[in-house]
Amino acid sequence: MAAPRAAVELIADKRQGLALAPGEIGRLVDGYLRDQVSEAQMASWLMAVCWQGLSDRELQELTRSMAESGGRLELGSLPGPTVDKHSTGGVGDKVSLVLVPLMASLGCFVPQLSGRALGATGGTLDKLESIPGVRCELSSSEILRVVREVGCVIAAASPELAPADRRLYALRDSTATVQSLPLIASSIVSKKVAEGVQCLLFDVKVGSGALMSDPDGARRLAATLAELARGFHIRTSAMVTAMDEPLGRAVGNALEVKEALDVLSGDGPPDLRELVLEEARELLRLSDQTGDPAAALDSGAARERFSAMVRAQGGAPDAPLPLGVRLATLDAPRGGFLSRLDAGAIGLAAWRLGRGRRAPSEPVDPAAGIVCLAKAGAAVDRGEPLLELWGRPGQDPQPALLALKHAILVGNSPPPPRPLVLEQVAGA
Ligand code: URA
Repeated sequence: MAAPRAAVELIADKRQGLALAPGEIGRLVDGYLRDQVSEAQMASWLMAVCWQGLSDRELQELTRSMAESGGRLELGSLPGPTVDKHSTGGVGDKVSLVLVPLMASLGCFVPQLSGRALGATGGTLDKLESIPGVRCELSSSEILRVVREVGCVIAAASPELAPADRRLYALRDSTATVQSLPLIASSIVSKKVAEGVQCLLFDVKVGSGALMSDPDGARRLAATLAELARGFHIRTSAMVTAMDEPLGRAVGNALEVKEALDVLSGDGPPDLRELVLEEARELLRLSDQTGDPAAALDSGAARERFSAMVRAQGGAPDAPLPLGVRLATLDAPRGGFLSRLDAGAIGLAAWRLGRGRRAPSEPVDPAAGIVCLAKAGAAVDRGEPLLELWGRPGQDPQPALLALKHAILVGNSPPPPRPLVLEQVAGA
């Protein structure tokens, strides 16, 4: 049998757009984790992938080698279907905070391994941790205990799950190799395979407040994620959803928890409730379950489940949230109809107020954020407050106000209504 080829040969082949032989990507990832392939070699190979892409078989092999680089949650003993959803992230996207306990209240088990703030988009873990006492850094056995007791958990992926993705993601982050469809897809799906769920829904956001701003790219990512996860025998579907304006009205850690609690109590902004219900129905379909998600919100069953999850993770669900104070408002420059409420600019302004990080080790400010008092299509009067900026007492709102300079457009007529779910990509 021929000796395995050296890393430099695999880099050269990928640079020329050639497909690697079966087993070669697995050996490359394994060699990297054992420090036999250098950081420079791995970074070169990743850059070659950014330019040349991967075949379906190579993508499957990369994902498998990352998923199998560590342990796996053992969910087999749970007495019901295991489900989860993954959002590619958007401004004001607090769907997980509602959907996870909602699905648990409908008889599913939801072991959600989630992330922290990335650039202008927030992180579910940072939001949940604004509830006093909540811990999201749990060991695999703690994660399993909470899911078994409560039906759901929202936690950070422990270091033993898909460790290759942790190392590769950090390398990609520092070598401008994050923006590659196969690298994004393998990173996301490897973690979900290690999570071990049976049913999975992808929410790929598209618009100024999302990772993807072009609809074709979002559609391709949604289709790739769904096909890749199905290759690992996960029942999967994907949707492409709008992220041109923030989802709901609140953008910020504690502010978003407050709004999620409103939806969990049968109230809250209609767009957020609609997307939560749409995703819940799709997960029920994928897991062959019946149930009425709207009734579970309206009856308080989903909120009870949320409180139980928070308690099981060390938090005090009824303690006051660290909401901060209102620092400033941004007012309508004229009367008319609000035709743009730019999610990207609002995400940047919230980040400048302190809701996200400048360096991975920085803490986030739970009080920082923005409340949208009106959404696109609303009739507004000149001088009417449209956005509220929130933060710590005495904080200077000017840097955030500057980011909002072009965030708002008021026109003479309402913009055409835009559906929230732009496309449903494949199912089952
Ligand atoms: N989220 C991930 O988990 N991985 C990526 O590569 C991009 C977004």
